[in-house]
Amino acid sequence: MASNEGVVVITGGVSGIGLALTRGLLETGCKVLALDVTPDGVAAARRSLADFADHLQVEAADVTDEARIEALIGACDRQFGPICGLINSAGIAREIPCLDTDVATFRKILDVNVIGSFITSKAVARRMRTRSRGAIVNITSVSGLRGNYGRVAYGSSKGAIVTMTQVMAVELARVGIRVNAIAPGPIDTPLTKAVHTAATRKNWVAAVPLRRYGEPEELLGTAQWLLDDTRSGYVTGQVIAVDGGFTAMGLAFSDAAH
Ligand SMILES: NC(=O)c1ccc[n+]([C@@H]2O[C@H](COP(=O)([O-])OP(=O)(O)OC[C@H]3O[C@@H](n4cnc5c(N)ncnc54)[C@H](O)[C@@H]3O)[C@@H](O)[C@H]2O)c1
Repeated sequence: MASNEGVVVITGGVSGIGLALTRGLLETGCKVLALDVTPDGVAAARRSLADFADHLQVEAADVTDEARIEALIGACDRQFGPICGLINSAGIAREIPCLDTDVATFRKILDVNVIGSFITSKAVARRMRTRSRGAIVNITSVSGLRGNYGRVAYGSSKGAIVTMTQVMAVELARVGIRVNAIAPGPIDTPLTKAVHTAATRKNWVAAVPLRRYGEPEELLGTAQWLLDDTRSGYVTGQVIAVDGGFTAMGLAFSDAAH
């Protein structure tokens, strides 16, 4: 199913990457249900995306609240249109050295990032299964693929999302549902503005061959492609890094080049 032939659910859809994907998909004629935990963010997104009101629903919801997610997904699928895609972008992050990370923080990050993505994926996939088609795109991170400093909880949660992507891709292939993930590198969003210090930003730029942060809109093409059966119908269980080359980099400096 092309992504403009049904509803795409986007969690964390009112800020940063999720907001860019919400806007980008609306601009291609897609219907979007954006879910987010912040009531202020929900109200702001309704205002800023008012031009797309016919194609957009924005609802306040915590992805860890299974009953609320199940109710919203069920109502959307019955009344707004058949759900053809899901992007799990809701997430939280902290940068804390491992020995300073308290267990409550670790649990909270796992709960939102891993269990939250599982709850929405399960609710959506149960509807997609009845139509034998659909695509799920999880937003993991390069911190789920590499041992980035200060990310014992966040990186573990994103690594778990990689494995969840693979397991769900294998199990759901037989019912026509593809499950893939995007691993962004550093992207300029409210989250990185809050978490990354000036020193952290400098370190990221040095570790990215393209020598800059990405913009949230730079994830749109990959997300659209993964959602669209007509373009990526034989792709499932994959993690695509959109990271300016971060995960490709080994020794990148030489006296000859500098
Ligand atoms: N920005 C980056 O550099 C970067 C890099 C790699 C991965 N990511 C991932 O991309 C995703 C989006 O990040 P972003 O940078 O756009 O951050 P962001 O903070 O701008 O957006 C995340 C959104 O998720 C929402 N959210 C948080 N907890 C929630 C919950 N329990 N239920 C529902 N919504 C909730 C927030 O309110 C926010 O609107 C996250 O999963 C993040 O881990 C970001």
